[in-house]
Amino acid sequence: MRVRKAVIPVAGLGTRFLPATKAIPKEMLTIVDRPTIQYIVEEAVASGIEQIILVTSQGKSAIENHFDYDFQLETFLKAKNKFDLCEEVSHISNLIDIVSVRQKKPLGLGHAIWTTRNVVGNEPFAVLLGDDLVQSHKPCCQQMIDLFDDVQESIVAIQRVSKEQTRNYGIVEGEPAERPRTFKVERMVEKPAPGTTNSDMAIIGRYILRPEIFDILDKTTPGHGGEIQLTDALLALSRQRSMFAYEFEGTRFDAGDKLGYLKAIVAFGLRHTVLGGDFRRHLKEVAANL
Ligand code: G1P
Repeated sequence: MRVRKAVIPVAGLGTRFLPATKAIPKEMLTIVDRPTIQYIVEEAVASGIEQIILVTSQGKSAIENHFDYDFQLETFLKAKNKFDLCEEVSHISNLIDIVSVRQKKPLGLGHAIWTTRNVVGNEPFAVLLGDDLVQSHKPCCQQMIDLFDDVQESIVAIQRVSKEQTRNYGIVEGEPAERPRTFKVERMVEKPAPGTTNSDMAIIGRYILRPEIFDILDKTTPGHGGEIQLTDALLALSRQRSMFAYEFEGTRFDAGDKLGYLKAIVAFGLRHTVLGGDFRRHLKEVAANL
């Protein structure tokens, strides 16, 4: 089975980023010159994904508009001989086939994934969470698809976190598997209370899921925070068949958090093809005056 589709949940309210997200979706906050959601979509495209399924809610139409064809804007740019800008704008609408489904109530990440069941159908799919930006040589989603091609089982991406941080993540417990950077999942728990796990393996927002997850989500009852948790459904799936945790190669930024967002701007600014050099010189000056 081959991974062709990716689900990107964007229905969340973005309360961690208020007041910036009062009137605009958090996924539309800009990192250098494009909204965070564009980085996520570009990672999926670079990983060979053929269709993206956005899980949206009220007030998120700016995201759909961003990836839509804008006749008025393109006509205007052409009339002004701004062909480079026009090319950039039209490139976004040609990136990939995008469909959206509505999550009508904020019942949790597990519920958001469940709403895509009829569009995904009976095939494995990727999930990319919009808060997690990953800078890496090979796209993080591609690294996981490569592993899926090999194992044909569900995979969660993980990174090591400090003991104090485990309460903010889904935590995986498991043993090293045969392949490099790969662990066989034995237990997982959403945002464990301090001292209840010895593991430092935190789930970050990249998953490859087998379609069996939908039947499990059908029956998953509310867990941590009163929400239907994807982690709870994954634990149930890991009891039915093998599941792997994969320590991806690259650096992850939590762009849904104010400090994480600033760090992402610095990292992506330094890598920017046009601005990177000037930005590096500026940062050196700032650092010298701190
Ligand atoms: C979600 C998942 C959690 C995961 C995290 C990664 O939590 O439920 O398991 O560790 O994303 O960013 P959220 O951050 O949406 O509360």
